[in-house]
Amino acid sequence: MRLDRLISNHPQYSHRAARQLIACGRVEVNGEIVRDTQAVVDRFAAVSIDSIPLRSGYPSLYLMLHKPVGYLSATSDPAHPTVLDLIDSALHERLHIGGRLDRNSSGLLLLTNDGLWSRRLTEPRIKIPKVYHVTTAEPIAAIAAERFASGIHFAFEGLTTSPAQLQLLATHMARVTIYEGRYHQIKRMFHAVGNRVVSLHRERMGDIVLDPELAPGDYRLLTRSEMLSV
Ligand code: URA
Repeated sequence: MRLDRLISNHPQYSHRAARQLIACGRVEVNGEIVRDTQAVVDRFAAVSIDSIPLRSGYPSLYLMLHKPVGYLSATSDPAHPTVLDLIDSALHERLHIGGRLDRNSSGLLLLTNDGLWSRRLTEPRIKIPKVYHVTTAEPIAAIAAERFASGIHFAFEGLTTSPAQLQLLATHMARVTIYEGRYHQIKRMFHAVGNRVVSLHRERMGDIVLDPELAPGDYRLLTRSEMLSV
């Protein structure tokens, strides 16, 4: 049987995605990487994608989406469009979000059907840096960087945020790096220093950078090295 056909028999992979995976060197047959999209394999061949065996269950899938403003980071909602509405329905099975963004935030959103991987991505103990470009309503106070670095107390949860970095880019613009993902975290941090976020865009999570080729609403498979970086 053709290798691309064998892969695309799995509901997560369109025929096009299967060919891309093979061409990118992410598919192994009996332990050897196969890049020939025309390759033929017998039905007993051990096929794996990103070193994870392709079984009759669900092979792992990792996507980056350029989330546009206006979409909910949820898999379904009765009132608002969700990020899943932007993804080919053939890929929806077990797909979930690794680190949400608010409805009015944009930028890098990672989706997967691999629960262990998404747990690593969001586990506060692992401290993966998340980098945001922020625009504010008021000029950013000189003290903000110091306050963010020493942690902001969130009275509602009774916790103090981990040290975060603020790099001032302009009077109303900054790049902020946080290491956890508390509810509305960056908006509440700016609120604590007397300011208000007017736009928030995630540029990076760990070593995974939002691909500049992706327009808002577009997505692509992660490369093998992006996937393995988490
Ligand atoms: N912090 C926020 O306030 N909102 C987001 O979407 C992400 C981080």
